[in-house]
Amino acid sequence: MAGKKYLFILILVSAAILTHGHDITTEPNSIKNWFNKLHDAKEKITELQFYVQDILSGPNPSNVQVARASSTFTSPTFFGLVAVLDDPVRTGPTPDSEIIGRAQGLFAFASLEETSLHMTFDLVFTSGDYNGSSISIVGHNPYLNQNREMSVVGGTGAFRFARGVVAVNTVSFDSSTGDAFFQYNVTVLHYTTI
Ligand SMILES: *[C@@H]1O[C@H](CO)[C@@H](O)[C@H](O)[C@H]1NC(C)=O
Ligand SMILES: *[C@@H]1O[C@H](CO)[C@@H](O)[C@H](O)[C@H]1NC(C)=O
Repeated sequence: MAGKKYLFILILVSAAILTHGHDITTEPNSIKNWFNKLHDAKEKITELQFYVQDILSGPNPSNVQVARASSTFTSPTFFGLVAVLDDPVRTGPTPDSEIIGRAQGLFAFASLEETSLHMTFDLVFTSGDYNGSSISIVGHNPYLNQNREMSVVGGTGAFRFARGVVAVNTVSFDSSTGDAFFQYNVTVLHYTTI
């Protein structure tokens, strides 16, 4: 009985390492081993909810402009402006909530007719069950609309072969600084290798 219990715990621990261990992408042969187990894996849906803090003000902005066209600031839609972000990802919509990852990537004002962004970035988890895993997001973000939707196009670690949908809305926006909080509800299809 005790032996059985011990085995059960061992299986649980190795399952946790397989799916969530923070070194899964850096261990030698980790990806090859994962593929070998894929035929036994099941697809599952995971829903994640968190908040992205976008900081434009102060000495350490997390969102910086890196390029623009000569016509960007005469364009009503800022067409041609390109920026890079490394926004803190938090458990709540306030600057004191816990950081669980970073949103790292870039966006461009990509529409002549509406104020909207093309975004391409990674959600890189730095703590919790998914520490070391990431989700890649691409999408059209007409950010003046309250509700937007982007795509999950892939992932690493626990999110290998991921695909899914991201619902985004603006929780707070400070019009004097441009600082904002966005709510992200991510619904992602990925595999369990348990
Ligand atoms: C996340 O994983 C990194 C790298 O493996 C590790 O150094 C760090 O301590 C982990 N962070 C947490 C909060 O578990
Ligand atoms: C996220 O889901 C919650 C319910 O769990 C809902 O209240 C909220 O409006 C959703 N946010 C977005 C951006 O879809």
